[in-house]
Amino acid sequence: MSTETVSDQLSTDHLLGMADLTADDIALIFRTADGFKEVLRRPIKKVPSLRDITIANLFFENSTRTRISFELAEKRLSADVINFSSAASSVKKGETLIDTVNNILAMKVDMVVMRHPDPGAAVFLSRHVNARIINAGDGTHEHPTQALLDAYSIRERLGSVKGRKVVIVGDILHSRVALSNMLCLKKLGAEVMLCGPPTLMPRHVASMGVRVEHDLDKALRWCDVANMLRIQLERQADDGPAYFPSLREYAMLYGLDRQRYERIGRDIVIMHPGPINRGVEITSDVADSGASIILDQVENGVAVRMAVLYLLAGGIHRDN
Ligand code: CP
Repeated sequence: MSTETVSDQLSTDHLLGMADLTADDIALIFRTADGFKEVLRRPIKKVPSLRDITIANLFFENSTRTRISFELAEKRLSADVINFSSAASSVKKGETLIDTVNNILAMKVDMVVMRHPDPGAAVFLSRHVNARIINAGDGTHEHPTQALLDAYSIRERLGSVKGRKVVIVGDILHSRVALSNMLCLKKLGAEVMLCGPPTLMPRHVASMGVRVEHDLDKALRWCDVANMLRIQLERQADDGPAYFPSLREYAMLYGLDRQRYERIGRDIVIMHPGPINRGVEITSDVADSGASIILDQVENGVAVRMAVLYLLAGGIHRDN
């Protein structure tokens, strides 16, 4: 008989980054998400798990998928939800992040989901306010729920993550999705390769235990899964000189189209975190093909975020 005990609690009070989660935490989130996926297939998709919990979604940067996915996950769990967008707020009048959040928390908010353009904003907030914090993307740093839903979607399509070869392609330098995916996939025992132009590859990244390849055709022949990242033109524009001569040249060297996919000679799984620049990092005939799990990623995001919210809220009940 096994004496191994399986924890039903996360090892952390906040979700600030994949760096803070253990492999056991990720396994617990996936098991919990499996249960919520089953709930989401029912005619009545709502459960009362977070009925006494109030959650504020604070978005200081644009979002479609993450914002809607968190709001839906919260509503499916019966939480009370308030939404804040910096574009229509007193941030425009000069109010600081801490003042903004403390004013919102004064209205008795238990959890904060925050997207912010500055790396470290979620960690900073967790040290200064009394609420559970979930990082929904902080600048070029981390996007932990994206990495969790990506790994969950690989597990769903291939049966496991351990031992799978995953290549992350594109603008690694500006990508919070790349860093969170690297950390998550390695904790789950996958092999990770990064592929992109040398100008968009962070220095010393190989010291994180990942392979680096600049030839996309070689990378695609190696992998089971290719995660095609968005070219972050808005962040690149802030840096000064261009990272590559033109989008056309980028697409020729690092874009995935039908011809390049067929040259692999076997099926691989295609992912993209969105939003897609169609015709740049991926063409529509690949993005919309049977090899693509892009919309599965979006669907799984709701169940994975329900799991994260549910598990972190369990701590609120324990503390009160
Ligand atoms: N994947 C992702 O974070 O998309 P949004 O920016 O639309 O939230």
